[in-house]
Amino acid sequence: EKSGYKHFMLKEIFEQPRAIRDTTLGRISLETGKVFLGEMKITEEDFRRATRIHIAACGTSWHAAIVGKFMIERLARVPVEVDYASEYRYRDPIPDPNAIGLLITQSGETADTLAAQREMIAKGMKTLAICNVVGAMIAREAQGTLYTHAGPEIGVASTKAFTSQLVALFLFALHLAQTRGTLSDDESRTLVESLSLLPGKVEEILRSADSVCEQLAKIYSGARDFLFLGRGIHYPIALEGALKLKEISYIHAEGYPAGEMKHGPNALIDESLPVVVLATQDETNRDSHLRYEKTLSNIQEVTARSGKVIAVAIEGDTHITQLVDHVLYVPPASELLLPVLDIIPLQLLAYHIAVRRGCDVDQPRNLAKSVTVE
Ligand code: F6R
Repeated sequence: EKSGYKHFMLKEIFEQPRAIRDTTLGRISLETGKVFLGEMKITEEDFRRATRIHIAACGTSWHAAIVGKFMIERLARVPVEVDYASEYRYRDPIPDPNAIGLLITQSGETADTLAAQREMIAKGMKTLAICNVVGAMIAREAQGTLYTHAGPEIGVASTKAFTSQLVALFLFALHLAQTRGTLSDDESRTLVESLSLLPGKVEEILRSADSVCEQLAKIYSGARDFLFLGRGIHYPIALEGALKLKEISYIHAEGYPAGEMKHGPNALIDESLPVVVLATQDETNRDSHLRYEKTLSNIQEVTARSGKVIAVAIEGDTHITQLVDHVLYVPPASELLLPVLDIIPLQLLAYHIAVRRGCDVDQPRNLAKSVTVE
């Protein structure tokens, strides 16, 4: 059942190229660049009229939601609000029948996410679910469901479900943009093509990063704390990298927007603190490049205080190798899709550290795969 892998988590990490391909399958046309979401009770007119999108989710799915906010706002120019599902009700969301509710959930049974969905519906909103389990409660109560086709996820730590959620969010953002006319046909075609190249790129990372992460685990598995830093769309990936590490290895880890370091966390840096920095960039995108340059200054702030830096960077970035202790390389991609590549080495790093520490990777203490109580 683990197909020769030592743990379900490792098997599921290696299934990601297939999961991403299946989530995309039948939903895109490479010729026209068009994206199809399938039948739902949310109409094209609803999408055109939408004043905003409210997203609610928990844990890893909440990280996907923040990435989704960047994708949707960039491509479709619709404002997006992201809430922890467990918090959504407590802010008494302002009723807006033209807002669309979006729930992101692997299991489709998370109690807090279901409660947020019911709150949305009570406030007059239509809801769309991005869900991995067919026929789950949240999908049944939604006016539309975009299924991720990651397949059953057994490991408690979400891996392939997460990357499939990112892909589903990218498809949703593209479809919304196409419906609202905010993207040219050329832009659509380029983005869809770039999406179709993702599985091959993930395969490439899996081939190269696994042994590097095993080596890194030897050096850093004894660390007491870890920091993960990123900017812009890479910031939620820093959060997700930290969550993966803490939940399966029990090492305290925090994710931060890189620019926040000087507002407090810099005080933590010393020679015993490993800092993982997301320093990938899309060189064809000016904003992405500027973010990268600023991230390099943050790296220098860490190394100047003797912190150890593990960077995730684009293949061929020789400049960064001179600044940091270790580099994990990923192939180049469009800025909005880089998060799918960024997270792969961080999953492998968390996995190998947890294995070295003798942790029960597939069944971490105190956690359940599906959280059906609020
Ligand atoms: C972490 C993890 C959890 C889930 C969260 C929401 O690896 O798996 O944080 O993401 O419990 O679960 P779903 O997506 O099923 O609603």
